[in-house]
Amino acid sequence: MRESCRGWSASETNGPVDAGKVFDDAIAFHDKRIAGSEVTMTDHLAYAICALNEIPSQRAQGFHLMIVAEDGSQQPWPIIVIRWGRQVFGYLNRCPHDGVNLDWERNQFLDQNGTRLMCGKHGALFELGTGNCVEGPCKGQSLTPVALAVLDNDICVTGVTLVEDGEAASGRADA
Ligand code: FES
Repeated sequence: MRESCRGWSASETNGPVDAGKVFDDAIAFHDKRIAGSEVTMTDHLAYAICALNEIPSQRAQGFHLMIVAEDGSQQPWPIIVIRWGRQVFGYLNRCPHDGVNLDWERNQFLDQNGTRLMCGKHGALFELGTGNCVEGPCKGQSLTPVALAVLDNDICVTGVTLVEDGEAASGRADA
């Protein structure tokens, strides 16, 4: 895992928007939700998890990362990264009703229109910008947002302490 994003600050999250309106709205809501969440960025570190162009625009990719929890233990931290142009959204890859990964088939996260996240097992649909389930067994519940930033053409995770390469296995879901 690269560390080229060290020194990132929260004010750098708002980049240019080059997406359609549905994604403009989604981006605005997602950033607001991250800002209002319990994510803290006390150390201002960000961890590059892949290059921006490694995820095609309008596609989603899963990552199996490891996080350092508050008690110091290392825990699995599977996340979904969705890219639209230079914008990215992140969520824990964990359904709110059943706690399992959404991609029943590896890295198949989006519905056929490519505008919502979908549980491959039950067909539940989640809005990209809010993570809210709008259809399915967890309707009314939400995915947990993950703070991301695009820096130096890398997609970076921030607001958490990740276990870095060499300390534990981590990386892309398809690696
Ligand atoms: S696991 Fe929750 S909708 Fe499928």
